[in-house]
Amino acid sequence: MTRFRPDLRYSDITPKEVFLNRRSFLASAAAAGIMAGSQVTARDFAGGETPNSLEEITSYNNFYEFGFDKGDPARYASALTTDPWSIQVDGLVDKPGTYDISDLVDEAEIEERIYRFRCVEAWSMVIPWNGIELSKILNKFGPQPGAKYVAFETLVRPEEMRGQRRGGNIEWPYREGLRMDEAMHPLTLMGTGIYGEPMPKQNGAPIRLVVPWKYGFKSIKSIVRISFTEEEPPTTWNMLQPREYGFYANVNPEVDHPRWSQASERRIGDGRFNRRRDTLMLNGYADQVADLYAGMDLTKFY
Ligand code: MTE
Repeated sequence: MTRFRPDLRYSDITPKEVFLNRRSFLASAAAAGIMAGSQVTARDFAGGETPNSLEEITSYNNFYEFGFDKGDPARYASALTTDPWSIQVDGLVDKPGTYDISDLVDEAEIEERIYRFRCVEAWSMVIPWNGIELSKILNKFGPQPGAKYVAFETLVRPEEMRGQRRGGNIEWPYREGLRMDEAMHPLTLMGTGIYGEPMPKQNGAPIRLVVPWKYGFKSIKSIVRISFTEEEPPTTWNMLQPREYGFYANVNPEVDHPRWSQASERRIGDGRFNRRRDTLMLNGYADQVADLYAGMDLTKFY
């Protein structure tokens, strides 16, 4: 995918000063364990780094169903109808079926977690997500012992998703997958919102995956299907460019993308265009997740 390149310009982004008040308020609110507009207790998994502003998080996006430009999702995702929303569950599971989102999202289980988010294109943000541990949702379906992977699909609705009408070489639906132990890991979230608000459409309303130690493309948006499989499922970027995007896609500063370094990243909102910071192994979550990959060759992670 030639348009998929690192360090795209981000001239659309509103200067961070405009949102500084909100940011610093939220940072202190997070530290106090109280977030704006809700009584959710925020848990910081980002080492105390200040979250990006809502404006930054909602104006610089990848959501190719709405176009390739970073501003396209914010411009066009309002066309997406997210209510009603149902999710088809199938494969190696005791309770397959079509579930309404309200059957899966128990408001009382929604947590707020501040995570680092690292795109394979070498930009990053810090995002205060709302969501439910994915394991709590998957367990409702009764996964069978033979289920070794879980696959996810995004909606196909070209009448509302203009990027799906425009050709290109992505074979819709957008697909992603995780190994079952990755999916069941307590850090893996099903995201339902940001900053205490329902998930913005450009970020994957109404429900999306958030896997903080993997490159952002694993965190599939606007999910309508969950399948439990024995075999590793096909995934969108791996299908397009198997040499460049792997199934695991764990953030790893020691394994460069064939076309750029992954040793450092550019934090959106940092202000200084060229400033880069070191990328952390497994995006800083190695203590929690490295065990999942014991015995695997780290250099094959891509
Ligand atoms: N999910 C779908 N359905 N379509 C996409 O194009 N892009 C992925 C991921 N999930 C994508 C997707 C990529 S490449 C990234 S970096 C993140 O979403 C971006 O999430 P954000 O826009 O909320 O920051």
